[in-house]
Amino acid sequence: MDTENNKECCKPEIALDLTAANKILDQYRGKPGALIPVLQKVQAHYLWLSQPLVEHIARELNIFLSEVSGVVTFYSQFYTAPRGKYTIQVCRGTACHVKGSLRILEQLAADLGVEPGEMTKDGKFTLEEVNCIGACGIAPVIVAGSKTFGSISVADALEAIRNFEEGA
Ligand code: FES
Repeated sequence: MDTENNKECCKPEIALDLTAANKILDQYRGKPGALIPVLQKVQAHYLWLSQPLVEHIARELNIFLSEVSGVVTFYSQFYTAPRGKYTIQVCRGTACHVKGSLRILEQLAADLGVEPGEMTKDGKFTLEEVNCIGACGIAPVIVAGSKTFGSISVADALEAIRNFEEGA
């Protein structure tokens, strides 16, 4: 018998820790207009809104699941797939396109082993392609976490992400 495979198949599912969600819900229960701020705060903690979280929020706020799911899917600020700790946004607006942002996006995707919209295996990054972020004067632009890198070359973008630390 292959014990390694056997272990793999019988791993217990990791239970979702709802402690943080419940603390947030406790601040908003019974208040009008609670849904959006609850979703924002819960997402800020968990990084994305899994189906069990959405169901829990609906149940606790006593709102139809269809309504909560509708809000989550309508607003682009809410994520329904796992997100990395940091988001890398590669601007694909016209000015950045002209200055080579497609090659930056392609090279970052290859280096990180993901497609745009996906999270890296280690959970550190989600790579995103975005429209003009209003910094055309320093095109091409990428934003990683809270840091903006302007007039960046492909090589410098790769180096910036390989060495990325939010506080550094
Ligand atoms: S097109 Fe990239 S910042 Fe405007």
